[in-house]
Amino acid sequence: MLKGKTIIVGVTGGIAAYKTAMLVSRLKAWGADVWVVMTAAATKLIGPLTFRTLTGNPVVYDLFSQEDIHTPVPHISLADRADLVIIAPCTANMIGKLANGLADDPLSTIVMACQAPKIIAPAMNCNMWRNPLVQGNVGKLKALNWECIGPVEGKLACGVEDIGRMAEPEEILERTLALIGSKQDLKGKHILITAGGTQETIDPVRFIANRSSGKMGYAIAANARERGAEVTLISANVDLPAPLDLKPIKVATADQMLASVEAALQKADVVVMAAAVADYKYHAAKSKIKKSNQKLKLALTPTSDILQRVTSATGRAGKTIVGFALETDNLIANARKKLKEKDLDLIVANDPTTFGSDSAKVVLINKLGKQRPLPRASKSVVAREILNAIL
Ligand code: CTP
Repeated sequence: MLKGKTIIVGVTGGIAAYKTAMLVSRLKAWGADVWVVMTAAATKLIGPLTFRTLTGNPVVYDLFSQEDIHTPVPHISLADRADLVIIAPCTANMIGKLANGLADDPLSTIVMACQAPKIIAPAMNCNMWRNPLVQGNVGKLKALNWECIGPVEGKLACGVEDIGRMAEPEEILERTLALIGSKQDLKGKHILITAGGTQETIDPVRFIANRSSGKMGYAIAANARERGAEVTLISANVDLPAPLDLKPIKVATADQMLASVEAALQKADVVVMAAAVADYKYHAAKSKIKKSNQKLKLALTPTSDILQRVTSATGRAGKTIVGFALETDNLIANARKKLKEKDLDLIVANDPTTFGSDSAKVVLINKLGKQRPLPRASKSVVAREILNAIL
């Protein structure tokens, strides 16, 4: 649920810092990329090497000697990348600095530059916690939408039983999952997604292709996986890293894509045909076609329409079938025609500017004819909206 999320864990000088090792290892177990930033006092209580080993990332504790962080301004690059900041334990001193805009150590500097949501887990002596100055500072942070988890009652470092202990790592993890964890609203669903563009062989050195990059299909696959779906990704000639833990089934031609779709169809609850499939194929020549001064005619034969095969297959009932329409002219009218002719539940209409781009401007049209234009957005945002519409 935290795959793809970057979390900064700030550690300040409280004895509870040992519990932060457990927190960090729990965040890692849920898939987060965790970066630990320590104050000088924290390094006296727990070694940076512990966090480095747990996170696999360099630990930031001195802004001026970060040889192993390969960026000239680590506090800015880390702050920009973060999806969440957790400061645990958070001392009265750090609360005071943050509430009053001071930035004189690595942690307060990074936090000052960071716009991500923030959680503090205070830990201190009970009288310090009750001090109106500390309470006033906590109030200031809460007014800025910072979350404050704990402190809780229990045995404190000074021996008394009172309020002041850091909240348990599990409680902080639960809030983290609620704040930035991906919803598992596709758990139990199997989604078959095609991506990329098929290639039809002309001769041993040439083929007919199209400009599809596969970015849209891969973004849908990644979002579906993040949301708990089981995903079969059939990938035609895509030059992108595999999304998350998926192992794309690689195909080249329309016929190969058809065979792979049919093999995976039975267990699919949803089919998303994002691939640009060749409409014609060539009976490939065994040898290279040689140049001449004559006109060259290639007789092409139609490929099977994969979507039509899917929607006319037995077992179609209960499956949600989604197609794409790529049009240069009359986008909506043509997309509606395809929706009807191919008997789809949803069609994603887009124009050729989407090809290869990181963003897309699409119109979603469902079986009932309801039309929803989306503003131009990154393909991962559009992917999320398509999956929302499928849901
Ligand atoms: N499609 C398919 N099999 C094909 C061709 C297309 O399953 N042989 C799917 C595409 O994956 C897409 C939808 O049909 O989801 C529409 O594809 P598009 O290329 O826009 O339309 P075509 O049906 O090929 O019609 P035309 O090229 O005439 O616009």
